[in-house]
Amino acid sequence: SEVRGRTAFITGGASGIGLGMAKVFLEAGMNVAIADLRQDHRETARAELRDADLLDRTCFIDLDVTDREAFVRAADEAEAAFGRIHVLCNNAGIGILKPIGAADYADWDWAIDVNLNGVFNGVRTILPRIRAHGEGGHIVNTASMAGILQYSQAGLYVTTKFAVVGFSEALRAELAPDGIGVTAFCPGGVRSNIREYESTRPERYAARTDRSEDGPPPRLEVAPEDRERLSRLTASPEEAGRLVLNGIRENALYVFTAPEFRPGVEERFEAIRRALGRDDEREKDALELIPGLIG
Ligand code: NAI
Repeated sequence: SEVRGRTAFITGGASGIGLGMAKVFLEAGMNVAIADLRQDHRETARAELRDADLLDRTCFIDLDVTDREAFVRAADEAEAAFGRIHVLCNNAGIGILKPIGAADYADWDWAIDVNLNGVFNGVRTILPRIRAHGEGGHIVNTASMAGILQYSQAGLYVTTKFAVVGFSEALRAELAPDGIGVTAFCPGGVRSNIREYESTRPERYAARTDRSEDGPPPRLEVAPEDRERLSRLTASPEEAGRLVLNGIRENALYVFTAPEFRPGVEERFEAIRRALGRDDEREKDALELIPGLIG
């Protein structure tokens, strides 16, 4: 579908993947409201977009996606700038790297509030506005490859991202009759500032457990001669943005960036298939009797 002249609202839009989406959308002729918590990111994004001559159809909004009242004001601001919002990208997220056994309540609450509740806050605020103008629209939720495959060192993150995938699938089925598309965006590695997530932790989620001696989370050690190959597995934010724009145009259910995860995904689905078993009689009855069982 035609995106020129339409307006996108992108949370976490001032850095990394969100900024990559913003650039690609602007180049395609869209208006973009960039909503982000970090003022320094908003400023560097503004400078980058000015240099690329893309500032005209952009507005910057200070928003913490966990703040429901602020979300309403942010949507009002975007509408004041551009009239109507058509595309909502729930992209803000924290890459909290903690195994579940090492997390305390503050870590858990923060991860759920930003990565999962932030997505619902976006939908709760902006979906009624998309419905009201009747021009159609699209919602992109940034999950992760970690929304499809677990990674044992990041149990909290995996929990939130699996939830975002399920949320997206259900919402897609729900909104299909209204002509509003929904995409679950599941990137693999993308160059961004995601490692700085701790700097955005508000006081109310201050971790009770002192883990200062733990040091930073372990990084993948790669021999110098293999770095080039590894970097080819990492996408640029603009590549990620282009894939998302394609997904919006085609109303894709999923958008992935990292086909190298295929063996892991196949292994997971094979395990599910095996554990589920098979009973043709029950399948037939269920298909006939339970609406929406397969969607
Ligand atoms: P990033 O850290 O460069 O960008 C995220 C932006 O979100 C930052 O500007 C930050 O200020 C903002 N933000 C954080 N908390 C916020 C809040 N409560 N309210 C509003 N804005 C907030 O990181 P990146 O990588 O671009 O992350 C974007 C999304 O992509 C996240 O949901 C992340 O989980 C997801 N992702 C990233 C991958 C990667 O390799 N970079 C891989 C898979 C998923």
